[in-house]
Amino acid sequence: MGKVIAIANQKGGVGKTTTAINLAASLAVLEKKVLIIDADPQANTTSGLNFSPTSDEKRTLYEVMIGVLQDERSRSIGIRDALIQTELKNLHMVPSHINLVGAEIELLDAPERESVLRKAIAPVRREYDYIIIDCSPSLGLITVNSLTAADSVIIPVQPEFFALEGLGKLLQTIRLVQGGLNPKLTIEGFVITMFDGRTKVHSQVATELREHFKDMVFNTIIQRSIRLSEAPSHGKPIVLYDVMNNGTSNYLNLAQEVIDKNE
Ligand SMILES: Nc1ncnc2c1ncn2[C@@H]1O[C@H](COP(=O)(O)OP(=O)(O)OP(=O)(O)O)[C@@H](O)[C@H]1O
Ligand SMILES: [Mg+2]
Repeated sequence: MGKVIAIANQKGGVGKTTTAINLAASLAVLEKKVLIIDADPQANTTSGLNFSPTSDEKRTLYEVMIGVLQDERSRSIGIRDALIQTELKNLHMVPSHINLVGAEIELLDAPERESVLRKAIAPVRREYDYIIIDCSPSLGLITVNSLTAADSVIIPVQPEFFALEGLGKLLQTIRLVQGGLNPKLTIEGFVITMFDGRTKVHSQVATELREHFKDMVFNTIIQRSIRLSEAPSHGKPIVLYDVMNNGTSNYLNLAQEVIDKNE
């Protein structure tokens, strides 16, 4: 099947990486074949899954994307050369590195510069059930590449007072991509992250989001959990770090919702 899902929101720190890692890991635990692509030069997904590209000889998303621009014979590497086996049997990763910042500039003059990631993924797309792309907090060219490569977008929303205001710009970008580069792009759903039921504004924003976006909001809410924020420093998704934690069941439920929507 090979459903490609981008995790995007240009607002920083809303739980994109946490959702990308733990949704991907949960899908893998539920016996799906999953590839996670770190499309953020901050490389938080990469380190969160216990990989440090500095220890490797340059096989990251940057080299894969630049490889697409080279012709077959001179191509340095393809996506298969960059695949990493994570601790979970069913979860592979294409890591990132700070050098991905350079791709924003190097792609500027490239032909079909928005479709480079889509072309990069093509050779392995059918080998996975799900391909999850963790986007950076920007609506720049790499994120547009992610939206162009994707079948759908999951939008993590942190239930803070200004959360909804920032969504307009993201939705506008999604509509632009739908209008030209990728007409088949859909919104998989909004997911509320870092929720604390005791905080009044959290409940208010959650209600507002449901009033506005109706059934486009996932039923699963990701609760605030210290363990979820600790797990990346141990290089593990929550399911391998603390299986009894709420974060584990929250993300397994989210993964099941995604499966139910798609299969
Ligand atoms: N449910 C949660 N409970 C507690 N802490 C969380 C939760 N989700 C995320 N965090 C923490 O909040 C911070 C921001 O989360 P995360 O890195 O996933 O956001 P992001 O949207 O990827 O950020 P960026 O925009 O910089 O890429 C991190 O320190 C993370 O550990
Ligand atoms: Mg992130």
